[in-house]
Amino acid sequence: MTPVATEQLAALAAMLKERVGLHIRPDSFAALKLAVLARLDVLAATAPDATAYLSLLGGLDGDEELRQLLPLVTVGKTSFFRDERQFQALDALLPGFQARSGDQRLRIWSAGCATGEEPYSIAMTCAERGLEPRQLELLATDVNPEAVAAAARGFYEARRVRDIPTQYLSRHFDREGDAWRVRASLRRYITAIRPHNLVSVAFPAPQTAGWDVIFCRNVIIYFDTPTTRRVLEQFHHALAPGGWLFLGYSESLFRLFDGFDLTEVNGAFLYRKPEEGSVRPVALHVRPAPASLPSVRHVHLPPAALRPSLSAAAPSPPPAPRPVEADEPLAPQEFLDGAIALVSEGRFGAARELLERHLEQNGPGLAVQLTLANLYGVLRQHDRARDAYQGALALEPLSAEAHLFYGIHLLSQSEADGAAKELSRALFLDPDLALAHYYLGRSREAQRDPQRARLAYRNTIEALRRLPSGKRQAFLGYYPDIPEDGAAFVRAAEYALAAL
Ligand SMILES: C[S@@+](CC[C@H](N)C(=O)[O-])C[C@H]1O[C@@H](n2cnc3c(N)ncnc32)[C@H](O)[C@@H]1O
Repeated sequence: MTPVATEQLAALAAMLKERVGLHIRPDSFAALKLAVLARLDVLAATAPDATAYLSLLGGLDGDEELRQLLPLVTVGKTSFFRDERQFQALDALLPGFQARSGDQRLRIWSAGCATGEEPYSIAMTCAERGLEPRQLELLATDVNPEAVAAAARGFYEARRVRDIPTQYLSRHFDREGDAWRVRASLRRYITAIRPHNLVSVAFPAPQTAGWDVIFCRNVIIYFDTPTTRRVLEQFHHALAPGGWLFLGYSESLFRLFDGFDLTEVNGAFLYRKPEEGSVRPVALHVRPAPASLPSVRHVHLPPAALRPSLSAAAPSPPPAPRPVEADEPLAPQEFLDGAIALVSEGRFGAARELLERHLEQNGPGLAVQLTLANLYGVLRQHDRARDAYQGALALEPLSAEAHLFYGIHLLSQSEADGAAKELSRALFLDPDLALAHYYLGRSREAQRDPQRARLAYRNTIEALRRLPSGKRQAFLGYYPDIPEDGAAFVRAAEYALAAL
């Protein structure tokens, strides 16, 4: 294996911190090394070793390469039974699948499986429910070949198995010194572990029909909006009717894709492809659960509310969601919709309370956290806003949106240097972010740097020209105080350029 020295990893971590705002602690250097090795594998001719790779990152094409590296760096962020509620939901769905007629196998795909913790957790859940390996087709894929190799090895240090319930650990793993190895009996539940890039045309299909369940958690958050939509369309196509999509907790299809029904299963929110021939209701609605399934609550939003409201294809604004009652049980999207309805009535405090309640009940999620941060800003609770933005960034350090709105917040607090740094990070992650170019221009002005301010304003106009709809792009969070019309930013950038 190509050596990568600890000092080189430290230099790379410092570069990631400076350019993207991603903080990688030394105890995650092993994952960083895996990511570098995966890139060296691809770049064999141009960067044969870590030294050459670091110079490539520091050179003219450095940004482009850093963008390739980023999704791989996140490989370390995984654990066994990550988001336990989702595994309880899977467990609750299993009897329904087992009761199916014929000898249909249960078909599950773990897409973006990282080093294997997720597919082995799925396998343990199925084994504990009494499924036999032959009753399951379980595929595990990841774009990073080093991660795939680690998943196939199934060998984990003690600290990485601490989330596995003790009785599962003793049933499914063998101790080897300080580490634990997956037993062959558990490995047999996994049909294949292999590389696959989700940003590709061909998606794997099970031997018969479509997938019953696709796990793709904490992967799409790093894709840009068009890629995310494309991937979701392909998942939709790859799933069997009635199949389930498990996304990461902070990944919401809100305003991104409306082909799935948001469904609550035992406290976890899952996306379900509608059964063939079923008619999708158009109003908020709770559908009774089919007899073979556990307690399931279907939450439907009007399709227009899920469509990106800012695209040219949406000529009229989506219907205003209804305000919500204080103690209603709500899905994450409903919380957001309810808060948006309250904001549109000018009830900022009530919207804030609703979202705070959501965080209390469901834990952090990016869209809610960002919307809340913005509301604190509107309510002039600046310390809380700062904490909420930092919380959002701790949750998803690679969210361009979180860097963008934190930057805007810092600028409003006259912290031009911090704002410029955050906005540059946002632009590194998404160079088309016209809003970030515009606010970077304002930060540069505040820093008394007219030359760089001019450049940023010109980039604003350029970026908006590239956006076909001429509108601000859709964000996960909701920002009532930012104009939706991109033309307003072009005009503001033009005025600023004329004045400079
Ligand atoms: C944060 S980990 C999530 C692992 C696991 N799904 C979980 O939630 O614990 C993200 C994984 O997505 C993988 N990934 C990133 N881009 C991908 C792509 N285009 N296709 C497939 N996997 C990808 C990374 O290599 C990494 O292993």
